[in-house]
Amino acid sequence: MGGHHPKLCELGENKMNIAVIGTGYVGLVSGVCFSELGNRVICVDNNQDKVEMLNAGEVPIYEPGLQELMIANKRAGKLSFTSDIAAAIRESDIIFIAVGTPSLPNGEANLGYVEQVAIEIGTHLESYKIVVTKSTVPVGTNDRVRELIQSISTQPFDVASVPEFLREGSAVKDTLNPDRIVIGTDSERAIQALKKLHRPLTENLIITDIRSAEMIKYASNAFLATKISFINEISNICEKVGADVTRVAEGMGYDKRIGSSFLKAGIGYGGSCFPKDTQALIQIAGQVDYDFRLLKSVVQVNQDQRFNVIRKLEEIFGTLSGRTIAVWGLAFKPDTDDVRDAPAIDIIRYLTEAGAVVKAYDPIATANFRKEVDATSIVWEENPLHAARGADALCVLTEWKEFSQMNLMELASMMSEAIMIDGRNVYNKEQIKASGFQYYSVGRPGLNHAEGKAAAII
Ligand code: UDX
Ligand code: UDX
Repeated sequence: MGGHHPKLCELGENKMNIAVIGTGYVGLVSGVCFSELGNRVICVDNNQDKVEMLNAGEVPIYEPGLQELMIANKRAGKLSFTSDIAAAIRESDIIFIAVGTPSLPNGEANLGYVEQVAIEIGTHLESYKIVVTKSTVPVGTNDRVRELIQSISTQPFDVASVPEFLREGSAVKDTLNPDRIVIGTDSERAIQALKKLHRPLTENLIITDIRSAEMIKYASNAFLATKISFINEISNICEKVGADVTRVAEGMGYDKRIGSSFLKAGIGYGGSCFPKDTQALIQIAGQVDYDFRLLKSVVQVNQDQRFNVIRKLEEIFGTLSGRTIAVWGLAFKPDTDDVRDAPAIDIIRYLTEAGAVVKAYDPIATANFRKEVDATSIVWEENPLHAARGADALCVLTEWKEFSQMNLMELASMMSEAIMIDGRNVYNKEQIKASGFQYYSVGRPGLNHAEGKAAAII
Protein backbone atom coordinates (compact mmCIF):
# COMPACT_ATOMS: atom_id res chain seq x y z
CA MET A 1 0.00 0.00 0.00
CA GLY A 2 1.22 3.54 -0.75
CA GLY A 3 1.96 6.08 1.95
CA HIS A 4 -0.57 8.75 0.96
CA HIS A 5 -3.61 7.52 2.78
CA PRO A 6 -4.44 7.17 6.43
CA LYS A 7 -3.67 3.69 7.76
CA LEU A 8 -6.70 1.59 8.53
CA CYS A 9 -6.12 2.07 12.25
CA GLU A 10 -6.31 5.87 11.88
CA LEU A 11 -9.76 5.51 10.39
CA GLY A 12 -10.82 3.22 13.19
CA GLU A 13 -11.57 -0.46 13.02
CA ASN A 14 -13.49 -1.61 9.95
CA LYS A 15 -12.83 1.62 8.10
CA MET A 16 -11.40 1.43 4.64
CA ASN A 17 -10.04 3.52 1.79
CA ILE A 18 -12.46 3.43 -1.10
CA ALA A 19 -12.54 4.79 -4.63
CA VAL A 20 -15.84 5.06 -6.50
CA ILE A 21 -15.49 5.64 -10.22
CA GLY A 22 -18.48 7.38 -11.82
CA THR A 23 -20.59 9.86 -9.87
CA GLY A 24 -23.98 9.19 -11.44
CA TYR A 25 -26.89 8.15 -9.25
CA VAL A 26 -25.34 4.90 -8.22
CA GLY A 27 -21.76 6.05 -7.74
CA LEU A 28 -22.48 9.27 -5.93
CA VAL A 29 -25.02 7.79 -3.54
CA SER A 30 -22.81 4.78 -2.81
CA GLY A 31 -19.75 6.97 -2.25
CA VAL A 32 -21.57 9.32 0.09
CA CYS A 33 -23.07 6.41 2.06
CA PHE A 34 -19.73 4.60 2.41
CA SER A 35 -18.23 7.82 3.81
CA GLU A 36 -21.20 8.13 6.16
CA LEU A 37 -20.20 4.71 7.55
CA GLY A 38 -16.83 6.23 8.44
CA ASN A 39 -14.75 5.10 5.48
CA ARG A 40 -12.53 7.44 3.50
CA VAL A 41 -14.00 7.74 0.01
CA ILE A 42 -12.62 9.32 -3.15
CA CYS A 43 -15.24 9.75 -5.88
CA VAL A 44 -13.90 9.98 -9.42
CA ASP A 45 -15.57 11.31 -12.54
CA ASN A 46 -14.07 12.11 -15.94
CA ASN A 47 -16.51 14.99 -16.29
CA GLN A 48 -14.50 17.91 -14.90
CA ASP A 49 -17.55 20.21 -14.59
CA LYS A 50 -19.28 17.61 -12.45
CA VAL A 51 -16.24 17.26 -10.20
CA GLU A 52 -16.03 21.02 -9.73
CA MET A 53 -19.71 21.20 -8.92
CA LEU A 54 -19.41 18.40 -6.36
CA ASN A 55 -16.35 20.02 -4.81
CA ALA A 56 -18.38 23.22 -4.44
CA GLY A 57 -20.95 21.23 -2.44
CA GLU A 58 -23.52 21.10 -5.25
CA VAL A 59 -25.29 17.85 -6.14
CA PRO A 60 -26.02 17.53 -9.88
CA ILE A 61 -29.07 15.30 -9.28
CA TYR A 62 -32.15 15.78 -7.15
CA GLU A 63 -32.13 13.13 -4.43
CA PRO A 64 -33.67 13.74 -1.00
CA GLY A 65 -31.08 13.90 1.80
CA LEU A 66 -28.06 13.43 -0.46
CA GLN A 67 -26.65 16.94 -0.45
CA GLU A 68 -26.73 17.30 3.36
CA LEU A 69 -24.98 13.99 3.83
CA MET A 70 -22.43 14.79 1.15
CA ILE A 71 -21.55 18.19 2.62
CA ALA A 72 -21.25 16.81 6.15
CA ASN A 73 -18.90 14.00 5.11
CA LYS A 74 -16.86 16.30 2.89
CA ARG A 75 -16.39 18.69 5.83
CA ALA A 76 -15.38 15.77 8.04
CA GLY A 77 -12.63 14.97 5.54
CA LYS A 78 -14.04 11.53 4.70
CA LEU A 79 -15.25 12.32 1.19
CA SER A 80 -13.52 13.98 -1.76
CA PHE A 81 -14.04 14.37 -5.50
CA THR A 82 -11.48 14.29 -8.28
CA SER A 83 -10.99 13.57 -11.96
CA ASP A 84 -7.57 12.07 -11.19
CA ILE A 85 -8.36 8.37 -11.48
CA ALA A 86 -4.68 7.34 -11.05
CA ALA A 87 -4.42 8.98 -7.62
CA ALA A 88 -7.77 7.57 -6.53
CA ILE A 89 -6.72 4.04 -7.48
CA ARG A 90 -3.36 4.40 -5.75
CA GLU A 91 -4.90 5.58 -2.50
CA SER A 92 -7.67 2.98 -2.21
CA ASP A 93 -8.04 -0.61 -1.06
CA ILE A 94 -11.38 -1.19 -2.78
CA ILE A 95 -12.31 0.33 -6.15
CA PHE A 96 -15.98 0.46 -7.15
CA ILE A 97 -16.86 0.77 -10.82
CA ALA A 98 -20.12 2.72 -11.08
CA VAL A 99 -20.05 4.23 -14.55
CA GLY A 100 -23.11 4.05 -16.78
CA THR A 101 -24.10 1.06 -18.90
CA PRO A 102 -26.56 2.62 -21.34
CA SER A 103 -28.47 0.56 -23.91
CA LEU A 104 -27.11 0.08 -27.40
CA PRO A 105 -29.71 0.38 -30.19
CA ASN A 106 -30.27 -3.42 -30.08
CA GLY A 107 -30.95 -3.37 -26.33
CA GLU A 108 -27.56 -4.80 -25.29
CA ALA A 109 -25.73 -2.98 -22.51
CA ASN A 110 -22.92 -0.71 -23.71
CA LEU A 111 -19.90 -1.84 -21.72
CA GLY A 112 -17.54 0.69 -23.27
CA TYR A 113 -17.29 2.81 -20.11
CA VAL A 114 -16.80 -0.18 -17.81
CA GLU A 115 -14.04 -1.53 -20.05
CA GLN A 116 -12.37 1.85 -20.27
CA VAL A 117 -12.29 2.05 -16.46
CA ALA A 118 -10.90 -1.51 -16.21
CA ILE A 119 -8.05 -0.47 -18.51
CA GLU A 120 -7.38 2.61 -16.36
CA ILE A 121 -7.30 0.41 -13.26
CA GLY A 122 -4.85 -1.99 -14.92
CA THR A 123 -2.67 0.92 -15.96
CA HIS A 124 -2.44 2.40 -12.47
CA LEU A 125 -2.35 -0.72 -10.32
CA GLU A 126 0.64 -0.65 -7.94
CA SER A 127 -0.47 -2.99 -5.16
CA TYR A 128 -3.28 -5.42 -4.24
CA LYS A 129 -6.79 -4.02 -4.81
CA ILE A 130 -10.32 -5.33 -4.83
CA VAL A 131 -12.16 -4.20 -7.97
CA VAL A 132 -15.93 -4.22 -7.46
CA THR A 133 -18.50 -3.71 -10.19
CA LYS A 134 -21.60 -1.86 -9.02
CA SER A 135 -22.91 -0.98 -12.47
CA THR A 136 -25.46 -3.41 -13.85
CA VAL A 137 -23.50 -5.54 -16.28
CA PRO A 138 -24.27 -8.68 -18.31
CA VAL A 139 -23.20 -12.05 -16.99
CA GLY A 140 -19.53 -12.55 -17.72
CA THR A 141 -18.54 -8.87 -17.55
CA ASN A 142 -16.55 -9.24 -14.34
CA ASP A 143 -14.50 -11.96 -16.00
CA ARG A 144 -13.89 -9.50 -18.83
CA VAL A 145 -12.84 -6.82 -16.33
CA ARG A 146 -10.40 -9.30 -14.81
CA GLU A 147 -8.96 -10.19 -18.23
CA LEU A 148 -8.52 -6.56 -19.19
CA ILE A 149 -6.69 -5.70 -15.98
CA GLN A 150 -4.55 -8.86 -16.24
CA SER A 151 -3.63 -8.00 -19.82
CA ILE A 152 -2.03 -4.79 -18.58
CA SER A 153 -0.82 -5.43 -15.04
CA THR A 154 0.97 -8.19 -13.15
CA GLN A 155 -0.04 -6.76 -9.76
CA PRO A 156 -2.34 -8.87 -7.56
CA PHE A 157 -6.04 -8.00 -7.46
CA ASP A 158 -9.47 -9.61 -7.08
CA VAL A 159 -12.77 -8.82 -8.77
CA ALA A 160 -16.25 -8.89 -7.26
CA SER A 161 -19.79 -8.07 -8.27
CA VAL A 162 -21.85 -6.18 -5.69
CA PRO A 163 -24.98 -5.05 -7.52
CA GLU A 164 -26.89 -1.97 -6.45
CA PHE A 165 -30.62 -2.05 -5.72
CA LEU A 166 -31.28 1.59 -4.79
CA ARG A 167 -34.32 3.41 -6.14
CA GLU A 168 -34.18 7.00 -7.29
CA GLY A 169 -36.02 9.31 -4.94
CA SER A 170 -35.20 7.11 -1.93
CA ALA A 171 -31.63 6.28 -2.90
CA VAL A 172 -29.95 7.29 0.37
CA LYS A 173 -32.49 5.46 2.49
CA ASP A 174 -32.34 2.36 0.29
CA THR A 175 -28.54 2.31 0.39
CA LEU A 176 -28.32 2.70 4.15
CA ASN A 177 -31.13 0.15 4.76
CA PRO A 178 -30.79 -2.52 2.07
CA ASP A 179 -32.94 -5.68 2.09
CA ARG A 180 -29.78 -7.59 1.24
CA ILE A 181 -26.25 -7.12 -0.04
CA VAL A 182 -25.13 -9.55 -2.74
CA ILE A 183 -21.39 -10.22 -2.88
CA GLY A 184 -20.25 -12.27 -5.86
CA THR A 185 -16.60 -13.24 -5.91
CA ASP A 186 -14.32 -16.27 -5.95
CA SER A 187 -11.77 -14.72 -3.59
CA GLU A 188 -11.81 -15.37 0.15
CA ARG A 189 -9.82 -12.20 0.74
CA ALA A 190 -12.39 -10.12 -1.15
CA ILE A 191 -15.26 -11.81 0.71
CA GLN A 192 -13.74 -10.87 4.07
CA ALA A 193 -13.08 -7.24 3.07
CA LEU A 194 -16.49 -6.72 1.46
CA LYS A 195 -18.30 -8.35 4.38
CA LYS A 196 -16.51 -5.96 6.72
CA LEU A 197 -17.43 -2.97 4.57
CA HIS A 198 -21.12 -3.86 4.23
CA ARG A 199 -21.90 -5.44 7.60
CA PRO A 200 -22.85 -2.09 9.19
CA LEU A 201 -25.68 -1.88 6.62
CA THR A 202 -27.26 -5.30 7.09
CA GLU A 203 -26.66 -8.78 8.46
CA ASN A 204 -28.20 -10.19 5.30
CA LEU A 205 -25.10 -10.70 3.18
CA ILE A 206 -25.52 -13.13 0.29
CA ILE A 207 -22.21 -14.58 -0.82
CA THR A 208 -22.26 -16.13 -4.30
CA ASP A 209 -20.14 -16.75 -7.34
CA ILE A 210 -19.67 -13.80 -9.68
CA ARG A 211 -22.06 -14.91 -12.42
CA SER A 212 -24.93 -15.53 -10.03
CA ALA A 213 -24.46 -12.07 -8.53
CA GLU A 214 -24.57 -10.51 -11.99
CA MET A 215 -27.74 -12.48 -12.72
CA ILE A 216 -29.44 -11.60 -9.41
CA LYS A 217 -29.52 -7.95 -10.39
CA TYR A 218 -31.12 -8.54 -13.80
CA ALA A 219 -33.53 -11.17 -12.48
CA SER A 220 -34.66 -8.86 -9.66
CA ASN A 221 -35.35 -5.91 -11.93
CA ALA A 222 -37.03 -8.12 -14.52
CA PHE A 223 -39.27 -9.62 -11.86
CA LEU A 224 -40.32 -6.21 -10.54
CA ALA A 225 -41.02 -5.06 -14.10
CA THR A 226 -43.10 -8.21 -14.55
CA LYS A 227 -45.17 -7.39 -11.47
CA ILE A 228 -45.89 -3.93 -12.89
CA SER A 229 -46.88 -5.19 -16.34
CA PHE A 230 -48.97 -7.91 -14.73
CA ILE A 231 -51.00 -5.48 -12.64
CA ASN A 232 -51.33 -3.13 -15.63
CA GLU A 233 -52.88 -5.93 -17.67
CA ILE A 234 -55.17 -6.77 -14.75
CA SER A 235 -56.17 -3.08 -14.69
CA ASN A 236 -57.08 -3.20 -18.37
CA ILE A 237 -59.34 -6.16 -17.68
CA CYS A 238 -60.77 -4.44 -14.58
CA GLU A 239 -61.82 -1.52 -16.79
CA LYS A 240 -63.85 -3.90 -18.92
CA VAL A 241 -65.40 -6.04 -16.20
CA GLY A 242 -66.11 -3.27 -13.69
CA ALA A 243 -63.60 -4.20 -10.97
CA ASP A 244 -61.25 -1.81 -9.13
CA VAL A 245 -57.57 -2.66 -9.64
CA THR A 246 -56.46 -0.90 -6.45
CA ARG A 247 -58.71 -3.19 -4.39
CA VAL A 248 -57.61 -6.20 -6.41
CA ALA A 249 -53.94 -5.35 -5.76
CA GLU A 250 -54.64 -4.79 -2.08
CA GLY A 251 -56.37 -8.13 -1.80
CA MET A 252 -53.55 -9.90 -3.61
CA GLY A 253 -50.83 -8.12 -1.66
CA TYR A 254 -51.85 -9.56 1.71
CA ASP A 255 -50.70 -12.92 0.46
CA LYS A 256 -47.10 -12.97 1.69
CA ARG A 257 -46.07 -15.05 -1.28
CA ILE A 258 -47.17 -12.20 -3.57
CA GLY A 259 -46.38 -9.13 -1.46
CA SER A 260 -48.04 -5.74 -1.81
CA SER A 261 -45.26 -3.73 -3.41
CA PHE A 262 -44.89 -3.01 -7.13
CA LEU A 263 -48.56 -3.67 -7.77
CA LYS A 264 -49.54 -0.10 -8.57
CA ALA A 265 -51.26 0.10 -11.92
CA GLY A 266 -50.53 3.19 -13.97
CA ILE A 267 -48.97 4.19 -17.26
CA GLY A 268 -46.09 1.74 -17.03
CA TYR A 269 -42.54 1.83 -15.73
CA GLY A 270 -39.84 4.20 -16.96
CA GLY A 271 -36.50 5.34 -15.58
CA SER A 272 -32.90 4.43 -16.14
CA CYS A 273 -33.10 0.80 -15.03
CA PHE A 274 -36.22 -1.23 -15.77
CA PRO A 275 -36.47 -0.40 -19.50
CA LYS A 276 -32.72 -0.88 -20.00
CA ASP A 277 -32.29 -3.96 -17.84
CA THR A 278 -35.30 -5.84 -19.23
CA GLN A 279 -34.02 -5.25 -22.79
CA ALA A 280 -30.53 -6.30 -21.77
CA LEU A 281 -31.75 -9.55 -20.16
CA ILE A 282 -33.71 -10.40 -23.31
CA GLN A 283 -30.46 -9.91 -25.23
CA ILE A 284 -28.42 -11.94 -22.72
CA ALA A 285 -30.89 -14.81 -23.08
CA GLY A 286 -30.94 -14.47 -26.87
CA GLN A 287 -27.18 -14.78 -27.02
CA VAL A 288 -27.42 -18.25 -25.49
CA ASP A 289 -30.30 -19.14 -27.81
CA TYR A 290 -32.98 -18.72 -25.20
CA ASP A 291 -36.15 -16.90 -26.17
CA PHE A 292 -37.31 -15.11 -23.00
CA ARG A 293 -40.95 -14.94 -24.10
CA LEU A 294 -42.39 -13.80 -20.79
CA LEU A 295 -40.05 -10.82 -20.48
CA LYS A 296 -40.61 -9.80 -24.11
CA SER A 297 -44.32 -9.56 -23.34
CA VAL A 298 -43.62 -7.59 -20.17
CA VAL A 299 -41.79 -5.01 -22.28
CA GLN A 300 -44.55 -4.87 -24.90
CA VAL A 301 -47.29 -4.49 -22.31
CA ASN A 302 -45.32 -1.69 -20.70
CA GLN A 303 -44.88 0.20 -23.96
CA ASP A 304 -48.53 -0.17 -24.79
CA GLN A 305 -49.73 0.93 -21.35
CA ARG A 306 -48.40 4.46 -21.96
CA PHE A 307 -50.84 4.87 -24.79
CA ASN A 308 -53.87 4.13 -22.60
CA VAL A 309 -53.87 7.83 -21.80
CA ILE A 310 -53.93 8.67 -25.50
CA ARG A 311 -56.63 6.10 -26.25
CA LYS A 312 -58.84 7.61 -23.57
CA LEU A 313 -58.31 11.13 -24.95
CA GLU A 314 -59.11 10.00 -28.48
CA GLU A 315 -62.25 8.23 -27.31
CA ILE A 316 -63.43 11.49 -25.78
CA PHE A 317 -62.35 13.98 -28.45
CA GLY A 318 -61.99 11.99 -31.64
CA THR A 319 -59.15 13.93 -33.18
CA LEU A 320 -56.73 15.73 -30.85
CA SER A 321 -55.75 18.34 -33.40
CA GLY A 322 -56.29 21.85 -32.04
CA ARG A 323 -57.05 20.61 -28.52
CA THR A 324 -55.21 22.04 -25.53
CA ILE A 325 -54.04 19.28 -23.21
CA ALA A 326 -52.54 20.05 -19.80
CA VAL A 327 -49.94 17.56 -18.52
CA TRP A 328 -48.99 17.31 -14.87
CA GLY A 329 -45.81 15.35 -14.19
CA LEU A 330 -42.89 14.74 -16.53
CA ALA A 331 -40.46 12.76 -14.31
CA PHE A 332 -40.66 8.94 -14.60
CA LYS A 333 -41.76 8.87 -10.96
CA PRO A 334 -42.12 11.37 -8.09
CA ASP A 335 -39.24 12.80 -6.03
CA THR A 336 -36.78 12.79 -8.88
CA ASP A 337 -35.89 15.14 -11.74
CA ASP A 338 -34.93 12.14 -13.87
CA VAL A 339 -36.86 11.81 -17.13
CA ARG A 340 -34.93 8.90 -18.67
CA ASP A 341 -37.47 6.73 -20.49
CA ALA A 342 -40.32 8.57 -18.77
CA PRO A 343 -43.76 7.62 -20.14
CA ALA A 344 -44.42 11.37 -20.46
CA ILE A 345 -41.89 11.53 -23.33
CA ASP A 346 -43.87 9.18 -25.59
CA ILE A 347 -47.20 10.65 -24.54
CA ILE A 348 -46.24 14.28 -25.15
CA ARG A 349 -44.54 13.44 -28.46
CA TYR A 350 -47.73 11.76 -29.61
CA LEU A 351 -49.89 14.68 -28.51
CA THR A 352 -47.77 17.28 -30.33
CA GLU A 353 -47.57 15.13 -33.46
CA ALA A 354 -51.35 14.78 -33.36
CA GLY A 355 -51.60 18.57 -33.45
CA ALA A 356 -52.50 19.26 -29.81
CA VAL A 357 -51.11 22.15 -27.79
CA VAL A 358 -49.52 20.79 -24.60
CA LYS A 359 -49.25 22.85 -21.41
CA ALA A 360 -46.77 20.98 -19.24
CA TYR A 361 -45.91 21.25 -15.56
CA ASP A 362 -43.52 19.34 -13.31
CA PRO A 363 -42.18 20.63 -9.98
CA ILE A 364 -38.53 19.87 -10.83
CA ALA A 365 -38.08 17.83 -14.01
CA THR A 366 -38.99 20.40 -16.68
CA ALA A 367 -35.41 21.44 -17.50
CA ASN A 368 -34.34 17.82 -18.04
CA PHE A 369 -37.49 17.04 -20.00
CA ARG A 370 -36.94 19.92 -22.42
CA LYS A 371 -33.63 18.37 -23.42
CA GLU A 372 -35.60 15.28 -24.58
CA VAL A 373 -38.69 16.85 -26.11
CA ASP A 374 -39.21 20.45 -27.09
CA ALA A 375 -41.59 21.99 -29.61
CA THR A 376 -43.28 25.30 -30.18
CA SER A 377 -46.61 23.59 -29.44
CA ILE A 378 -45.49 22.88 -25.84
CA VAL A 379 -46.00 25.62 -23.27
CA TRP A 380 -43.80 25.10 -20.19
CA GLU A 381 -45.62 26.21 -17.06
CA GLU A 382 -44.21 26.86 -13.59
CA ASN A 383 -47.50 26.45 -11.81
CA PRO A 384 -49.92 23.51 -12.10
CA LEU A 385 -53.00 25.74 -12.14
CA HIS A 386 -51.58 27.87 -14.95
CA ALA A 387 -51.01 24.68 -16.92
CA ALA A 388 -54.63 23.64 -16.45
CA ARG A 389 -56.20 27.04 -17.12
CA GLY A 390 -58.25 26.95 -20.33
CA ALA A 391 -57.24 23.35 -21.16
CA ASP A 392 -59.65 20.87 -22.74
CA ALA A 393 -58.29 18.02 -20.62
CA LEU A 394 -55.73 17.39 -17.90
CA CYS A 395 -53.47 14.30 -17.89
CA VAL A 396 -51.72 13.35 -14.64
CA LEU A 397 -48.57 11.39 -15.54
CA THR A 398 -46.53 11.46 -12.31
CA GLU A 399 -48.02 11.09 -8.82
CA TRP A 400 -46.28 14.08 -7.21
CA LYS A 401 -47.64 14.65 -3.72
CA GLU A 402 -48.69 18.24 -4.47
CA PHE A 403 -51.15 16.96 -7.07
CA SER A 404 -53.07 14.90 -4.54
CA GLN A 405 -53.59 17.98 -2.38
CA MET A 406 -55.14 20.16 -5.09
CA ASN A 407 -58.56 21.74 -4.75
CA LEU A 408 -60.28 19.87 -7.57
CA MET A 409 -63.36 22.08 -7.64
CA GLU A 410 -61.24 25.15 -8.24
CA LEU A 411 -59.21 23.24 -10.79
CA ALA A 412 -62.29 22.07 -12.71
CA SER A 413 -63.73 25.59 -12.79
CA MET A 414 -60.72 27.06 -14.54
CA MET A 415 -60.51 24.51 -17.35
CA SER A 416 -62.24 24.85 -20.67
CA GLU A 417 -63.64 21.34 -20.20
CA ALA A 418 -63.36 19.60 -16.83
CA ILE A 419 -61.91 16.35 -18.13
CA MET A 420 -59.14 14.48 -16.34
CA ILE A 421 -57.17 11.40 -17.34
CA ASP A 422 -55.43 10.32 -14.14
CA GLY A 423 -52.63 7.98 -15.27
CA ARG A 424 -51.51 7.27 -11.69
CA ASN A 425 -54.76 6.88 -9.72
CA VAL A 426 -53.93 9.92 -7.61
CA TYR A 427 -57.49 10.83 -6.58
CA ASN A 428 -60.09 8.95 -4.58
CA LYS A 429 -63.81 8.58 -5.08
CA GLU A 430 -64.79 11.34 -2.65
CA GLN A 431 -62.44 13.88 -4.21
CA ILE A 432 -63.75 13.13 -7.69
CA LYS A 433 -67.43 13.06 -6.78
CA ALA A 434 -67.28 16.55 -5.33
CA SER A 435 -65.20 17.97 -8.16
CA GLY A 436 -67.42 17.92 -11.20
CA PHE A 437 -64.68 16.33 -13.25
CA GLN A 438 -65.34 13.89 -16.04
CA TYR A 439 -62.72 11.53 -14.68
CA TYR A 440 -60.87 8.52 -16.07
CA SER A 441 -58.22 6.66 -14.11
CA VAL A 442 -56.45 3.32 -14.50
CA GLY A 443 -58.42 0.15 -13.83
CA ARG A 444 -61.07 1.89 -11.73
CA PRO A 445 -64.12 2.20 -13.97
CA GLY A 446 -66.35 2.75 -10.92
CA LEU A 447 -64.74 6.14 -10.38
CA ASN A 448 -65.44 7.35 -13.89
CA HIS A 449 -67.69 10.19 -13.03
CA ALA A 450 -69.27 12.65 -15.37
CA GLU A 451 -71.61 15.43 -14.33
CA GLY A 452 -75.18 14.37 -14.78
CA LYS A 453 -74.05 10.82 -15.53
CA ALA A 454 -73.65 8.80 -12.37
CA ALA A 455 -70.98 6.17 -12.70
CA ALA A 456 -72.44 2.81 -13.49
CA ILE A 457 -70.57 0.80 -10.91
CA ILE A 458 -69.47 2.17 -7.58
C1 UDX B 1 -25.97 3.48 -12.93
C2 UDX B 1 -25.21 2.22 -13.28
O1 UDX B 1 -23.94 2.50 -13.65
C3 UDX B 1 -25.96 1.43 -14.26
O2 UDX B 1 -25.29 0.27 -14.61
C4 UDX B 1 -27.23 1.08 -13.60
O3 UDX B 1 -27.96 0.18 -14.35
C5 UDX B 1 -28.00 2.33 -13.38
O4 UDX B 1 -27.31 3.20 -12.61
P1 UDX B 1 -26.03 5.94 -13.29
O5 UDX B 1 -25.36 6.05 -11.98
O6 UDX B 1 -27.44 6.39 -13.41
O7 UDX B 1 -25.94 4.45 -13.79
O8 UDX B 1 -25.14 6.49 -14.45
P2 UDX B 1 -24.86 7.94 -14.96
O9 UDX B 1 -25.77 8.90 -14.32
O10 UDX B 1 -24.73 7.80 -16.43
O11 UDX B 1 -23.43 8.22 -14.32
C6 UDX B 1 -22.24 7.67 -14.71
C7 UDX B 1 -21.13 8.64 -14.32
O12 UDX B 1 -19.89 8.07 -14.66
C8 UDX B 1 -21.20 9.99 -15.00
O13 UDX B 1 -21.06 11.01 -14.05
C9 UDX B 1 -20.00 9.97 -15.96
O14 UDX B 1 -19.45 11.28 -16.16
C10 UDX B 1 -19.06 9.05 -15.25
N1 UDX B 1 -18.10 8.38 -16.12
C11 UDX B 1 -18.50 7.74 -17.24
C12 UDX B 1 -16.74 8.34 -15.77
O15 UDX B 1 -16.34 8.91 -14.77
N2 UDX B 1 -15.86 7.67 -16.55
C13 UDX B 1 -16.22 7.05 -17.69
O16 UDX B 1 -15.38 6.47 -18.38
C14 UDX B 1 -17.60 7.08 -18.04
C1 UDX C 1 -35.48 0.53 -9.93
C2 UDX C 1 -35.40 -0.61 -8.88
O1 UDX C 1 -36.52 -0.51 -7.99
C3 UDX C 1 -34.09 -0.55 -8.11
O2 UDX C 1 -34.01 -1.65 -7.23
C4 UDX C 1 -32.95 -0.60 -9.12
O3 UDX C 1 -31.71 -0.49 -8.47
C5 UDX C 1 -33.09 0.52 -10.13
O4 UDX C 1 -34.37 0.43 -10.77
P1 UDX C 1 -36.03 3.12 -9.92
O5 UDX C 1 -35.98 3.02 -11.42
O6 UDX C 1 -35.30 4.23 -9.27
O7 UDX C 1 -35.52 1.77 -9.24
O8 UDX C 1 -37.55 3.30 -9.51
P2 UDX C 1 -38.76 2.40 -9.03
O9 UDX C 1 -39.31 3.01 -7.81
O10 UDX C 1 -38.43 0.99 -8.99
O11 UDX C 1 -39.81 2.68 -10.20
C6 UDX C 1 -39.55 2.34 -11.54
C7 UDX C 1 -40.75 2.64 -12.41
O12 UDX C 1 -41.80 1.74 -12.14
C8 UDX C 1 -41.35 4.04 -12.23
O13 UDX C 1 -41.64 4.58 -13.51
C9 UDX C 1 -42.61 3.80 -11.45
O14 UDX C 1 -43.61 4.75 -11.75
C10 UDX C 1 -43.01 2.43 -11.93
N1 UDX C 1 -43.82 1.67 -10.96
C11 UDX C 1 -43.26 1.24 -9.80
C12 UDX C 1 -45.14 1.37 -11.26
O15 UDX C 1 -45.66 1.75 -12.32
N2 UDX C 1 -45.86 0.63 -10.34
C13 UDX C 1 -45.33 0.18 -9.18
O16 UDX C 1 -46.05 -0.48 -8.43
C14 UDX C 1 -43.99 0.51 -8.90
